[in-house]
Parts: sequence; structure tokens; C-alpha cells
Amino acid sequence: MPHFLAPHIVIPPLPCTIGDYHFVYEAKKYGDDKQSLILVRFDDQEFYLRKVQRNDSQHNEILKCEKNTRIKPTGIIKNALKILCDTQESVISHNLNNNSIRQNLQSDYLKSIAFFTNFTESFILEIGFGSGRHLLHLAKENPHTICVGIEIHTPSIEQILRQIQIENLNNLYIINCDARILLEIMPDNLAQAIYIHFPVPWHKKPHRRVFSEIFLQQALRVLQPNGMLHLRSDDEQYFTDSLHIALRLDSLKMHIYKNQQASVVSKYEARWKRQCKNIFDLQIFKNTSIDNTPTKNTQNIQKTFHFDKILRKNLDNYINYPSKILEKDWFLHIDSLYKAHNIYVLMLCFGDFNQPQNKFLHIEFREDETKSWYVGGDPIPTNAAVKAHQYLKKILMKE
Ligand SMILES: C[S@@+](CC[C@H](N)C(=O)[O-])C[C@H]1O[C@@H](n2cnc3c(N)ncnc32)[C@H](O)[C@@H]1O
Repeated sequence: MPHFLAPHIVIPPLPCTIGDYHFVYEAKKYGDDKQSLILVRFDDQEFYLRKVQRNDSQHNEILKCEKNTRIKPTGIIKNALKILCDTQESVISHNLNNNSIRQNLQSDYLKSIAFFTNFTESFILEIGFGSGRHLLHLAKENPHTICVGIEIHTPSIEQILRQIQIENLNNLYIINCDARILLEIMPDNLAQAIYIHFPVPWHKKPHRRVFSEIFLQQALRVLQPNGMLHLRSDDEQYFTDSLHIALRLDSLKMHIYKNQQASVVSKYEARWKRQCKNIFDLQIFKNTSIDNTPTKNTQNIQKTFHFDKILRKNLDNYINYPSKILEKDWFLHIDSLYKAHNIYVLMLCFGDFNQPQNKFLHIEFREDETKSWYVGGDPIPTNAAVKAHQYLKKILMKE
């Protein structure tokens, strides 16, 4: 994570513009004078830097990227830090060299989650494509079908974007997102196939697995009739756990294979093969006659993340809020409050228990109006996130 460390970090008077960067305000953490957030704007993007005084004997200070508002490419954040680093009298250490702002992750084929808003075409999906061998193969084999890859690992995304360019593919799109969250906002009945090959088994933290009961329900909703969800794994436990989840549904057509030759061998698969491990395939087909997809397409639910009229007294009354609200299928955690004159920033974590979203809510009281927004863009509109937002709205707008 980009940062620099100094005996004492001095932030210039804000707001100020240096080069292409606009440093907007520094908000101090309520009840903790050792931490603050600095809002930075670059083009139409915004993110926070976090300043922390360390608990070491010298009380050194660190200024770093706030991971929950991180934007890509990282070079943008590094440059903002470098600008502030260069204004310090003394710096102990930093990791801000070797970067080009326009590096990597710039491609027409890298899409935001809005890609699926009002999407109506049939498509093929791969979750956690890693080296991308299988996904590239899919795109080449199906030149007239849109292929979409979802990944959370930035180097894998950079690598496939280069490959898309080199191989001149025009039907392959990449989304940097947790697939479990994204699946919920995808449209119904459009995916020809969903591939999940060699997912991380997470034996000690199975709640982090991609394949779960909710995932399967969502996948079946997203698949078109007779569409296939294909799990391929070297992990027998993951395979059998997934099979048992599928067997709990009333009626499903499934194919199971052991050590079946694949049309393309991924890096992971090649490694397991060298180790003579068994490979398991579970193919699940969406049944056309029986509706085993009780899950609804959350795109149809009205999901606005705005606030009508936040009252300042509710923020000044911050310490009296319940900090954690736990409901059956959603939660809201109001982690902390930051303040800069007439600006309040709430650090929040909310949504589904297994796929929480971390967001900062900026609230600004101006003479004639109140402005508020989620820094870095609205949350992903899952049902759980919408419910948490509505609850927060009630707290902040309470007369
Ligand atoms: C073990 S690798 C397998 C990669 C590739 N499918 C293959 O067969 O070589 C698992 C991949 O899934 C990605 N991944 C893990 N959890 C994910 C999630 N929730 N959403 C999207 N991708 C995920 C990881 O970043 C990693 O690249």
C-alpha cells in the first residue's frame, strides 16, 4: 500500500490544488486525535488518504492510501502522496517511486459494475479467471458471444487486459469485483454458462468461498434455461460440499466427472496434474420446468442511495447511535465519524454478513443545502446493502 512515514506530517492549508490534484479537506476522527482523512480529487475520481500517528516511541506519522476508497491505477494515489511527501521537511521512508500514473488498468474492456445495468444480451461468465487461459479460450471459441470475466486479483486483470489487446479480441470484458456481490445484480436468464474453475477452497474460512447456497440460487437465476454452472476443482472437499449444496435443491440435472480432460489447461490445473492430483467437475444445468430459483433479480428493486434531508443534530448526536445493527439478512456497522468544520464523514460497513461493503459517507452542511454522497460511488445495490442504507437514512433524517 503506498505510504510515507515522517516524524510529523504537515498538510498544507486546505483546500488547495497542486498539479492535477485537488486536496479538499482534512477530517479528524471523532474521539481519536491521532487519525484523520484527507479527501483528494483527481479528474472525476475521489479518494481518501489516511493520516495516523503511530504508537511508537517517536510518535512518527504515516500518510497512506485509505484502502476502502482505493482507485485504479494505484499510480494516481502514489502521485498524490508524493506531492505531499515532497512538501515535508523530513521523511523517514516511503514506497512512492517507480510509477506512472497511466500505468495498467486502462482499457475499454475493463468495465464497472454498471456494465450489467439494462443488459439484455446473452453472455458467458467466468468467475476468478486467474491467468485467464480458459477465459481467453472461451472468447476465441465464441467470437459472436459476449464473454465476461470477474476477478479480484489486480495483476491477473492487468495481464488479461494486455492479452485482450494483443489478441485483438472485441467480445471479452473484465470486471474487477467480488463475484458473490456482482452476481446478485446481474439480470435474469441471460448467461449461457458460468464457469468457476479452481476456486480458492478456504478450508478454515468456508464462508469466504464463492460457491454457497446463495451463490447457487443466484447463478440459477442468472443462467438462461438449460444454461450450465461449471465448477472444476482439485479440492475434493470443496467439490463434495458444493455437490451437497446442489443436492439440497429439489430438482436439478447434474453431471459429475473425475479426471476429465479439459479443452484448455489452466496454470493451476497444470500444477495439480504434475502432482497427480484428482480433478473433479460438477456441471449443474438450469431446469426449465421447475422453478428452483426463489431468488429475485435485485435489479428490479428500487435502489437509490440518496438521502433527502440529513439533520445535523443527528450527526452531533453520533455517540448515542447504536454502532451495530444486526438483522437476519443484513447488518450495518457505523464504525466511526470524522469531522472537518461543516463536513461529517461516516465510516461504514454494511450489507450481507459474508460479503460486507465498506464505504465512507460524506455529508456537507452548506448554508442553503446539505450535500451527501458515498465517496468513490454508490454501494453495489444488493438487497442487504439497500436495507442497511434505508436504516441509516432513518437515523440521519430523524426529526
Ligand atoms: C486458485 S485461482 C484459479 C484461477 C483460474 N480459474 C485457474 O483455473 O487457473 C482462484 C482465483 O479466483 C479469484 N477469486 C477468489 N475469490 C473471488 C471472488 N469472490 N470473486 C472473484 N474472483 C475471486 C482469485 O483472485 C484467483 O485468481
